[in-house]
Amino acid sequence: MITLFDKKSIALLQRQAQETEVQALTTHDGVPLKRTLSAVSLVSLGIGCVIGAGIFVLTGHAAAANAGPAVALCFILGGIACAFAGLCYAEMASTVPISGSAYTYAYATMGELIAWIIGWDLILEYALGGTAVAIGWSGYVVSFLDGMGIHLGPAFTSSPFAFDEATGEWSRTGAILNMPAMIIVAAMAALLIVGIRESARMNNLIVILKVSIIIAFILAGIWYFDPGNWVTAANPQGHFIPPNQGPGEFGWSGILRGAAVVFFAYIGFDAVSTAAQEAINPQRDMPIGILGSLVICTLLYVAVSMVLTGIVPYDKLNVADPIAVGVDAIGIHWLDPIVKLGAILGLTSVVLVLLMAQTRIFYTMSRDGLLPPFGARIHPRFRTPYLSTILFGTAVALCAGLLPIGLVGELVSIGTLFAFALVSIGVLVLRFTHPEIERPFRAPAIWFVAPAGALSAFALMLGLPGATWTRLVIWLVIGLAIYFLYGIRHSRVRLAEREAA
Ligand code: ALA
Repeated sequence: MITLFDKKSIALLQRQAQETEVQALTTHDGVPLKRTLSAVSLVSLGIGCVIGAGIFVLTGHAAAANAGPAVALCFILGGIACAFAGLCYAEMASTVPISGSAYTYAYATMGELIAWIIGWDLILEYALGGTAVAIGWSGYVVSFLDGMGIHLGPAFTSSPFAFDEATGEWSRTGAILNMPAMIIVAAMAALLIVGIRESARMNNLIVILKVSIIIAFILAGIWYFDPGNWVTAANPQGHFIPPNQGPGEFGWSGILRGAAVVFFAYIGFDAVSTAAQEAINPQRDMPIGILGSLVICTLLYVAVSMVLTGIVPYDKLNVADPIAVGVDAIGIHWLDPIVKLGAILGLTSVVLVLLMAQTRIFYTMSRDGLLPPFGARIHPRFRTPYLSTILFGTAVALCAGLLPIGLVGELVSIGTLFAFALVSIGVLVLRFTHPEIERPFRAPAIWFVAPAGALSAFALMLGLPGATWTRLVIWLVIGLAIYFLYGIRHSRVRLAEREAA
């Protein structure tokens, strides 16, 4: 009997993953994706997508409003929560090394309906993530050019709308369009169409530059580290964990709230798993890419936040460019534009990889028949899913040009956490239902790691405001409507079952 919980068999998925070029040319795909990504490129994709607005912007906010110098603990907690999910992603990606990430894993373990929900949710994560980061990119570029004496007016550099979280009301800002945000999305989409190898090369270059700039900041700042900077009016004793001032404000409750805030900084390591079909040796390299990028970014985040709060009193960090404030505080003014450039570069690669991840999810869902087939069309020369890249490039560019950043940031976090929870559950289900399949990478202590991954994702979701939950539910309802109107009738798994019956 065909049900909403029909699964795609692991054997079929593994066959698809191993499909050679010749097979792909003679089957439904026409042209396969190109396998060019090495382990190093995969780690670099992860770092490219992870290090961005989170460390360059949110660190200051979380230190000033939630955790003080203990913002480093927020990053450690966020890193641990992501490590549980990361281990589950790594096991899934090495077992089922096919594009589509959590969507594909859910298809194999929990059936088509849940897979659709998670795929639709990932579209939210990656498309809105790209939107949020492109808007942040625009802000940094405007301030960088400002510092060089080039003043761009607000009419074409900010959103025409403002959204008040407290009242839920929209208003006009008088601006027309956020052009820089649209331009960066269009440029990254064009690069992605030209080729995955070209995109990965550009990403590698950016990653080298941004990581070097962050390390330069750590090495320059460490000499000026002074716990005397932990002393503020609200923390006269200079404690590492400032005394609590209310729910979510300093003390341990502030650390927990701060961990939810800086969680955004970790989003992106999961994007590595969407490139499984473009990896040369996915079984071995997917876990390296996912876990390697997570470990490197966690170490950098903890070091940056320790140094930053050790050189500037945390109550001065609630600014758009906290790292630049840190550089100014130690008097190395020439590093200031370089740090800003690092942030701009950093955000550039985040937009690139999020867009890439987005199109790979759409590609896989189209290939499965749940979305229209044009999404799975591969360009004959560039070997990239060019039509879905054009579609999402346009949609994300429009969102980035029109929407205010406050509206999208938390929606991205809730979408990601939802995916983490489902992947953690899925990996456990698969161990139970298919203990026999070969797992090139096995997450250790799965009976602890998987529930811990799901629970910590859920706990962080609970820390997000009710309005964000409502928006997630609205998004999922729209998705379900599309599934029942289109996907359910065109699903390949269902068609095959119907034919067999
Ligand atoms: N982790 C990415 C960032 O911080 C999304 O920009």
